[in-house]
Amino acid sequence: MADPYATSRGYLVVGGTHGIGEATVRLLAQEITHTVVFCGRDKDAGTRLSNELSAGNTHFVPVDITVDESVDALFDALPGLLPHFDGAFNSAGVIGTDTILRGTRFHDSEEGHFDQVFAVNVKGMWRCLRHELRLMSAARGGSIVNCASVAGLRAADSLSVSYTASKHAVIGMTRALAAEYARDGVRVNAVCPGVIDTRMLGGLRDRLLVDLRRKNPGASVGSPAQVAEAVAFLLSERSSYVNGTALTVDAGGLHGAL
Ligand SMILES: NC(=O)c1ccc[n+]([C@@H]2O[C@H](COP(=O)([O-])OP(=O)(O)OC[C@H]3O[C@@H](n4cnc5c(N)ncnc54)[C@H](OP(=O)(O)O)[C@@H]3O)[C@@H](O)[C@H]2O)c1
Repeated sequence: MADPYATSRGYLVVGGTHGIGEATVRLLAQEITHTVVFCGRDKDAGTRLSNELSAGNTHFVPVDITVDESVDALFDALPGLLPHFDGAFNSAGVIGTDTILRGTRFHDSEEGHFDQVFAVNVKGMWRCLRHELRLMSAARGGSIVNCASVAGLRAADSLSVSYTASKHAVIGMTRALAAEYARDGVRVNAVCPGVIDTRMLGGLRDRLLVDLRRKNPGASVGSPAQVAEAVAFLLSERSSYVNGTALTVDAGGLHGAL
C-alpha cells in the first residue's frame, strides 16, 4: 500500500499557532506535497511559523473562532488555498482556570468564565465543524479530528468543571457527527491528550508532574509532537476504518498508569 502520508493532501489546522496544533502543522508540513492551512488569533506566531515552513506549502490565516465573520472568512478563502480538502484538525481550545488547584471552588466560579470556555471549546469548534462538514460531505470524503482531552472521558478535582464539561461535549459532538456523516464518506474522531507540555499548563506544569510521579515515578509530561503523531494517523487513510473514536494519548493515565 502506498504511504498515505506521502501522497498530496490538503489539511486545515484550527488553532495551529501554538502547542499541539503547531506540532501538527509542523508534522503535516514535513511532507512537501501536502498543503497545510492553519489559523489562530496570534498573528506574530502564525506569521513566524509560516515563514519558517516556507519551503512547503503552508498558509497562515488569522482567525478567532468565537466570531462568526472571522470563521466565515477562513472558509471563504479555503478553496483558494487548498487544492483539495482532505482533513481538518480542530485543536483550538482554552483551559478553565476556575479550579481547586488554583484555589477556586465551583460555587465561587464566575459565569463569564464558564461562557468563555464554552465559547471557544464547544461553540467555536461547532462553528468550524459546520463549514468543514459542508465542504467534505459535498466532496464525499474527508477526515476530521477534534481535540478533546482525557477530561472528556473522566473527571478529576484538579480540573475545572467548565473545562471538563466542554471536553465531554467535544466527544459528544464527535460521536454524533461520526454517526451522521459516515453516509457521506466523512470520518470524525477525537484525540484525548493527557498532560502535554504546552503553554496551556501555565504555572501548573511542575505541580502536575509531582502529582503524576506520586503514582508512577517514571511518569513524564507528554510532548505536543507525540499527540501530533496520533492526529496525523487519524487524518490519514491509515485509519480508514476508524470512526467516532476518542483516542487517548496519555501514557495510560486514564487507566491509572499516571
Ligand atoms: N496541554 C494539555 O495538557 C492538553 C491536554 C488535553 C487536551 N488539550 C487540548 O489541546 C488543544 C490545544 O491546546 P494546547 O495545549 O496546544 O494549548 P496552547 O498551546 O495554548 O494552544 C491553544 C491553541 O488554540 C488557539 N486558540 C485559542 N482560542 C482561540 C480562538 N478564540 N480562536 C482561534 N484559535 C484559538 C490558540 O491560538 P491563538 O493563541 O493564536 O489564538 C492556540 O493555537 C486544546 O483544545 C486543549 O484543550 C491540551
